Amino acid sequence: MKSKKFVFMFAVTFVACLLMTGIGFAKTVGIVMPTKSLERWNRDGEYLKQQFESRGYDVNIRYSDNKIDQQVKDIEGLIANNVDLLVIAPINGLALTQVLQDAEDEIPVIAYDRLIMNTKAVRYYVSFDNYKVGVLQGEFIKKMFDLDNADGKTFNIEFTAGDPADNNAPVFFAGAFDTLKPYIDKGILVVPSGQTEFQQVATKAWDSAVALERMQNILASHYADGRVLDIALCNNDSTALGVTKAITDDYAGDNKVIITGQDGDVANLANIIDGKQTMTVYKAVANEAVVTLDLGVAIMDGKEPGEELIKDSKWDFACAFDTESYNNGKGFVKSYLLTPLIVTQENLQKELVDTGYYYMDGKYPKAK
Ligand code: GAL
Repeated sequence: MKSKKFVFMFAVTFVACLLMTGIGFAKTVGIVMPTKSLERWNRDGEYLKQQFESRGYDVNIRYSDNKIDQQVKDIEGLIANNVDLLVIAPINGLALTQVLQDAEDEIPVIAYDRLIMNTKAVRYYVSFDNYKVGVLQGEFIKKMFDLDNADGKTFNIEFTAGDPADNNAPVFFAGAFDTLKPYIDKGILVVPSGQTEFQQVATKAWDSAVALERMQNILASHYADGRVLDIALCNNDSTALGVTKAITDDYAGDNKVIITGQDGDVANLANIIDGKQTMTVYKAVANEAVVTLDLGVAIMDGKEPGEELIKDSKWDFACAFDTESYNNGKGFVKSYLLTPLIVTQENLQKELVDTGYYYMDGKYPKAK
């Protein structure tokens, strides 16, 4: 009888010690995504949750419905819960300075995909090479129209960029515009609307309806006289969806307009298969989540990783460590930047389906 009592007392004491020292409590990761209304963030959120849970962390994930006040509340709640790490994709990179002040020395923050400005709480940034996203779109146009051998031919182009609140948006636009500006300067590319500044071509919240209405206005004002539109360079798929609808419904020309995008949203992949959209720049957010996991684990283990996180990893994808591209107002943020890739009708099966990111549901791909 005595031995049973002893074992019971020992067990109670042992568990009490564990609890007092915090051993045995899983650490918690707070994840905050901008919204579910833009397709990619649903995938990001799922991948991030799966990755951290696969390593035994508790995950508290919030989607802030593209409402800045909601995102501030979501972050406040996670800070109050004293999470061990925050992974945040901001709706507005300028709107989180105040709320993250409380986290500054307590909770490490990884800015996920979009940079968070004016706060020292952000220890790292994980994203894709956002400038290269735009360059890939510009280079695709350059190659498709053989702009270096135009021989007197000219092509009409219109630009659609993203949300001015999103630090990525002007970077995407700069990559594309810097690539094509030499051809605009030579008169090989012509912008009939005259809209070539980021603020003129930006799209609030990346909203498809906003992009649709702006393109309808441009078509009505500058193409009603039968002028041909050759190219609609859109910096992402949600804006490309609106632009494609405007061109389908309201463009009088009978030529195929070359339309670009980014993200591989399923509606746009269907448009690519149907020939309505010409390309998208795909970013494997599954890999972005893997990098975020390994970085987050290192940070929670008290490390401050650099290049070696890549060297010591088992990642089967390219990633660059960068300390000079992304200054968030408090200094350059150590960044891990993955590599985007061009997807068209020709390589969609190989790059998106054979890799397992999507599966074919009849004629069209669906995201897993
Ligand atoms: C950007 C993101 C892109 C784009 C957009 C829409 O910040 O990097 O993938 O699609 O937001 O959410």
